Amino acid sequence: MEKEIHYSTNISDAFFRQVIDYVGAGVVITDPALPDNPIIYTNSAFEKISGYPTKEIIGQNCRFLQGDKTSSTEVAKVREAIKEERSVVVELENYQKDGTMFWNELSLYPIYVPSEDKLYFVGVQKDVSDRKSEEARTAGYKQEACLLSTPFVPITENICILPLVGNIDTQRWEEIYERISAHVYDHDEEIFIMDLQGIQNLNDDVHNGILTLQQLLHVMGAKLIVTGIEPSTAKAGVNLADFRKNKISFYASVQQALEGIRALNT
Ligand SMILES: Cc1cc2nc3c(=O)[nH]c(=O)nc-3n(C[C@H](O)[C@H](O)[C@H](O)COP(=O)(O)O)c2cc1C
Repeated sequence: MEKEIHYSTNISDAFFRQVIDYVGAGVVITDPALPDNPIIYTNSAFEKISGYPTKEIIGQNCRFLQGDKTSSTEVAKVREAIKEERSVVVELENYQKDGTMFWNELSLYPIYVPSEDKLYFVGVQKDVSDRKSEEARTAGYKQEACLLSTPFVPITENICILPLVGNIDTQRWEEIYERISAHVYDHDEEIFIMDLQGIQNLNDDVHNGILTLQQLLHVMGAKLIVTGIEPSTAKAGVNLADFRKNKISFYASVQQALEGIRALNT
């Protein structure tokens, strides 16, 4: 791994110290030549982010910000970067002095100071807790949208209808496979009626997704029935002959499918 070292002018320059103090993000400088790579400089924003006063920060290794929830995988990335003297950006769950957790976007850089012929590490810390909660909220909405767009409607003990609306792309198929297999596993349902009436675009993705789903359900001992596609209106993407070949029953409507099932059972 090639070392990535940034060159600096005189680090002790009072002007630079002042500039660093005015930067909105936390800044710490560590000296890897000292035991346990301790902090030798910190700016006032770091005091604010961490909740510790400078006198309690100087001389410590930055790991004092870590706690129970800090990802060991992300910390290992930092450890590797320090070992290989290269920069890295990670997002870590860190803790303030009063125990409050915050998301720390840490950017770490090796800085070589020619006048001292010495390498330092500079860490720039940004509290990104607001962005992280926003991301978590969005992920929650997405999951909710996914549940709503793939509703399971059990109509008898062993028949479940899955009315689909909108567009189904590869990612949505993945979600459908995952949810259906979990559902079949939990409920032991035997027949799945997938209604495509509300699907806007019966394309290759839909065609291939149905074939994969049929195989999946077949392995699990369940049966797939597709409704909402009439032979006369089936688009080129959905080849009904292919469905027949793969023993997928299809009907124009859910009602017809239910009548078909009833007829088979009498
Ligand atoms: C300049 C610098 C800044 C750092 N800032 C942080 C930080 O803000 N939060 C954190 O959890 N770790 C930070 N670290 C990482 C830890 O100090 C330490 O390198 C990491 O925990 C991996 O080493 P360890 O396995 O010995 O703990 C920083 C490291 C350096 C060199």
